[in-house]
Amino acid sequence: MRIVTQSRYGGPDVLEIREVPRPAPKENEILVRVEAFSVTLADCAFRKADPFIIRFFGGLLRPKNLVLGDDIGGVVEAVGSTITRFAVGDMIFGSVGSGLGGGADYVCLAEDAAVVRRPAGLDAGQGAGLSYGYLTAMPFIRDEGLVKPGDRVLINGAASSVGVVALQLARHFGAEVTAVCSARHAELVRALGADQVIDRTSADFTAARDAYDVIFDAVGKSSFGRCKAALRTGGIYLTTVPSVAIFWHMLTKRAPGKRGRLATTGLRPVSAKLKDMQELVALLEAGAVRAVTDRRFPLAEVAEAHRYVETERKTGDVVVEMAG
Ligand SMILES: NC(=O)c1ccc[n+]([C@@H]2O[C@H](COP(=O)([O-])OP(=O)(O)OC[C@H]3O[C@@H](n4cnc5c(N)ncnc54)[C@H](OP(=O)(O)O)[C@@H]3O)[C@@H](O)[C@H]2O)c1
Repeated sequence: MRIVTQSRYGGPDVLEIREVPRPAPKENEILVRVEAFSVTLADCAFRKADPFIIRFFGGLLRPKNLVLGDDIGGVVEAVGSTITRFAVGDMIFGSVGSGLGGGADYVCLAEDAAVVRRPAGLDAGQGAGLSYGYLTAMPFIRDEGLVKPGDRVLINGAASSVGVVALQLARHFGAEVTAVCSARHAELVRALGADQVIDRTSADFTAARDAYDVIFDAVGKSSFGRCKAALRTGGIYLTTVPSVAIFWHMLTKRAPGKRGRLATTGLRPVSAKLKDMQELVALLEAGAVRAVTDRRFPLAEVAEAHRYVETERKTGDVVVEMAG
């Protein structure tokens, strides 16, 4: 089978497609034939080992058996003898977990991995992209932002993978949503439910005063300091991207009444991710959430997919399709 791997850290050209033996599932595992996997800024960070801390997981001097790709869509090809949750032929989507390995023709997963059956109408590529955006956005909107009916929520980077899902979830929880994006994405974010749209290239959302209960910076381009005055008393600022300032604030809680939070959603327990994936299926079936897929690349163009993601110009999700 083919895997996407690399023997050194660096730019997209370090990625190579290599042939390796197909894995066999243990008695408590399923073997999934991967149809598509998502490519995200997190994958690019792993590929480059930037930030440096990634080397402690991926290999200090050079990557050790690194196969990128966390979120997949695929088909169950075989099941171990003790498996009851899945059957051969099930079409699934979800996260393979922090061990990665989704960028391959096949991957073995534990029965309790954060993967679920795909509802009708969701193809493998859409599933792979949505799994990433949703498993990031949901903990921020529900658990950190505690978004509830009537809240005024601003999403910065509303057309990003994480942003498009956060916007839909905030609407689902009954909030009034302001989306910040460039003008080319205004129509999309309105269609996803935004009540107001701010064109980030002509207006500065941080100039607002006492306006929002939650500001979620899905792309981590702002700071709590700059956004604080735009929050209402008791308001919460959330960011996906770590910085010294947000860690300092979380440690010292220097601004009573208004809080800034970072969450590391990828590190949540698999059981919590699985529960959320099951909830995602219900949300999809209710029409509360939909996937936004930008480009689909064939496997041979995986480096091109990485290059495109690194432009930080994509709209929703980018996926690589194994059959392409
Ligand atoms: N904390 C965690 O656990 C966690 C988990 C997963 C991901 N992340 C991080 O979350 C971030 C978002 O990931 P993603 O995959 O959703 O991003 P993405 O899809 O790659 O973001 C692309 C979008 O960002 C927007 N954008 C670019 N520059 C901007 C700026 N200066 N201000 C506002 N928007 C800008 C662009 O839209 P417009 O042109 O419309 O502005 C573009 O469509 C990444 O940094 C990722 O590493 C964190």
